[in-house]
Amino acid sequence: MTSALELQPAVTARAPAKVNLELGVGPRRDDGYHDLATVYQAVGLHDDVTAAPADEWGCTVTGRDAGSVPTDEGNLALVAARLLAERSGARQPVHLSIHKQIPVAGGMAGGSADAAAALVACQELWSVAMERDELDRLAAEVGSDVPFLLHGGTAVGSGRGELVTPVLAQGTYHWVFVPVPGEGLSTPEVYAAFDARHEGRRVSEPTPGAEVMSAVRSGDPSALAAALSNDLQPDAVALQPRIGEIIGAALEFGALAAIVSGSGPTVAALASGQEAAIDLAVSLTASGAAEDVLRATGPVHGAQVLPTPRLT
Ligand code: C5P
Repeated sequence: MTSALELQPAVTARAPAKVNLELGVGPRRDDGYHDLATVYQAVGLHDDVTAAPADEWGCTVTGRDAGSVPTDEGNLALVAARLLAERSGARQPVHLSIHKQIPVAGGMAGGSADAAAALVACQELWSVAMERDELDRLAAEVGSDVPFLLHGGTAVGSGRGELVTPVLAQGTYHWVFVPVPGEGLSTPEVYAAFDARHEGRRVSEPTPGAEVMSAVRSGDPSALAAALSNDLQPDAVALQPRIGEIIGAALEFGALAAIVSGSGPTVAALASGQEAAIDLAVSLTASGAAEDVLRATGPVHGAQVLPTPRLT
């Protein structure tokens, strides 16, 4: 017999990964977070989250690094869905089927992407009308990067990264992402290493650089390459020296620039165009410098509902 729950269609939403074009980190705040001046770009690696009505809350994970993603209460997509249910009064439990393309614990906000996709999928499933600002605030409770992944595009992130202001950007940028084999890096661990490195020294408040802003306005990848920066890079490289080798190889094989993505360890290499990105990806894998590479362009849209639910 078909239950009433099964008659309600499932909804799939897709959310992108991010790279920080600039990541300026300030001193540690009293709440443990760091003030940031960052410029985010959403890139075309995606996780899909399908929300289906269910008798109880739960989630399953398939795709890249699926085995490393928690499926218990700690899963960020589930945290986000339950928070939206609580705030909106939509109490109906859902089962979330998460399909991953974004590396786990890689500095590309994969967990936050799942949360953003879950919010958008559940909002549609439950017909929740919520102002954008309110949804942003709820997203920020789940994680600092989640509001940006709802917006997508190119944007400045301030506060702890959760306050998002879109910036004018032109052109399409061609990236090659190199996931570093092994465990990934824990974001708190990288921030703790940043604090230890600055122990006894004054860390100034970060300010967004004019250079990155004018580079993304120009649409010129060489200008952007010259402006990329990440204050967490020395800490991520110290924790996983292999990152430094991969950055070196990417530069040797023609990347305009290569930096650590967010808190790492994924390396983000910027190419001058599509052909150059393909050549770079091939050289990195054929030489053995990288086991695995992911090509993507940015900027792309934030989290959005797909026209038809993904069949899992
Ligand atoms: O906000 P989110 O839960 O993604 O942050 C994960 C961890 O990263 C925080 O618990 C904190 O240790 C660190 N973090 C930070 N400053 C930020 C963002 C994250 O110290 N602006």
